[in-house]
Amino acid sequence: MSDIALKLSGLDVFYGASKILFSIDFEVKKGRTLALLGRNGAGKSTTMKAISGVAPPRSGRVEVHGVDVAGRPPYAIARHGVGYVPEDRQVFPAHTVEENLEIAAKTAEDGSCAWTMARVWEVFPILARLRTRRAGLLSGGEQQLLTMARTLMGNPDILLLDEPSEGLAPIIVQEIGRLIRELRQTGVTIVLAEQNMHFCLGLAEDAVIIDKGHIVYADTIEALRADPAVASRYLAI
Ligand SMILES: Nc1ncnc2c1ncn2[C@@H]1O[C@H](COP(=O)(O)OP(=O)(O)O)[C@@H](O)[C@H]1O
Ligand SMILES: [Mg+2]
Repeated sequence: MSDIALKLSGLDVFYGASKILFSIDFEVKKGRTLALLGRNGAGKSTTMKAISGVAPPRSGRVEVHGVDVAGRPPYAIARHGVGYVPEDRQVFPAHTVEENLEIAAKTAEDGSCAWTMARVWEVFPILARLRTRRAGLLSGGEQQLLTMARTLMGNPDILLLDEPSEGLAPIIVQEIGRLIRELRQTGVTIVLAEQNMHFCLGLAEDAVIIDKGHIVYADTIEALRADPAVASRYLAI
């Protein structure tokens, strides 16, 4: 087996007549975290949606462990081990935190079940305290944690996190950073879409930059950190 968990090649995505992504290529090695960086409107969320099946590509390949899943429906791609945490934090507002997690419980591809409710309470102490609270009453940060925990209950081996820190209070941003570090220890492969390179330092090993729907940079995040000209050209800092 190859050591590539996720490989995009020649991915073109349109919204109606507008072309949004132009022949996107990148790959993520198993167990690594890749930061997908770019300014607002660059195409990060569209890339995540193309991978997860929410915005099927017009052409190109999305290989998950070597199998091309491009154009398959979201539930089929999820079943392939891809967990998607969208930027808009969709919780079931009328259900409790606990119920939101129960709904999502599913074993992994290989039948193992690393993520259980008990494990979530351990790793997400903030949610443990809120288990009987209705999700609609949670703060934005708590909803972000719940959406992440719910996705993990599906036991994905590739996790797509779309701007998990966006618009949240510094204390929750720190908590999300801590969680991502902890998730990395489990061996899961992560794609972390972010505008903020600094949030990704210490979380991601690799970085790609997307600009106006094109991949314009791909290297380690340390190489990017050492190259302020690239960051100032393509990222808001
Ligand atoms: N549903 C949509 N219909 C038409 N255009 C869209 C839609 N969603 C996003 N776009 C456009 O696609 C481009 C990329 O958006 P997006 O992927 O959300 O960027 P990012 O996540 O990097 O901020 C932007 O120009 C945005 O205006
Ligand atoms: Mg976005």
